[in-house]
Amino acid sequence: MRHLLSPLDFSVQELEDLFDLAADIEKNPGKYAHACDGLKIATLFYEPSTRTRLSFEAAMMNLGGKALGFASADSSSAAKGESVADTIRVISCFADIAAIRHSKEGAALVASRFSSIPVINAGDGGHEHPTQTLLDMMTIRTLKGRLDHFTIGICGDLKFGRTVHSLVNAMSRYEGVHFVFISPPELRVPDYITEMLDEKGLSYEEKISLDEAISGLDLLYMTRVQRERFFNEEDYVRLKNFYVLTPKLMSMAKEDMYVLHPLPRVNEISVEIDKDPRAAYFRQVQYGVYVRMALILTLLGIDVDSL
Ligand code: NCD
Repeated sequence: MRHLLSPLDFSVQELEDLFDLAADIEKNPGKYAHACDGLKIATLFYEPSTRTRLSFEAAMMNLGGKALGFASADSSSAAKGESVADTIRVISCFADIAAIRHSKEGAALVASRFSSIPVINAGDGGHEHPTQTLLDMMTIRTLKGRLDHFTIGICGDLKFGRTVHSLVNAMSRYEGVHFVFISPPELRVPDYITEMLDEKGLSYEEKISLDEAISGLDLLYMTRVQRERFFNEEDYVRLKNFYVLTPKLMSMAKEDMYVLHPLPRVNEISVEIDKDPRAAYFRQVQYGVYVRMALILTLLGIDVDSL
């Protein structure tokens, strides 16, 4: 049985196959409309979510399956003190696959050890968020036609931003990718990430100023400051508007420098950018459904050639 806890659980070739499948789903949705008839996904969300949970549920429904689950820890037996291990054992009796989001790093890994159904990590604390990475990569592949040889700027909360950690892990396997980490010193990318890049001999730089970095970028991945992971409100308030991407900044960027953001956006991208053709963040959401459909089919071992 396979789980998805980190994007590194899939080889580069397996990711390629997954993106090809997602692209085929986009082109021929009807072919897949009954692939999961009679099957269920459980979405176990102990932390807030709009996109990720609904996108998993929509993905399963588009495949002919059904969805059940909970949207907050308060409305589950976690409020009574039940462990993740016990909850997943129970859910394994009701559903065929589960997506779990939790505030604790490693929660999805724990769930996978006690589960008899495939487990997808839909975000574990400030650690990883692999399915966001899959849709980020699918977006990059579609917009740029490749996943190698570019300079990607990653800006904002690089310390707590789990989508950043998963994206860097995943992109570090492609040739010629140069990372520019743009953050205030307090929110710089964790050492374990830069150590991994050093070990692999990959090139990266760290900057504080987005103004200085923007003209050299082929892609810009913006992130929000992760308020819920701060220890005190004062620090959050001081850092929350450190970066705001404005039309003036965009005028310094390359004409084909796409802007990505996992969403939700707070203030870090001015709404005026939304009409710029380089704004790719709402397109990412659409790719998220195709990629999650492809992931569900793959983890459930459904033979797509026979559809
Ligand atoms: C991200 C997350 O939950 O980590 N949201 C998402 O799933 N698209 C990013 C964020 O919350 O900032």
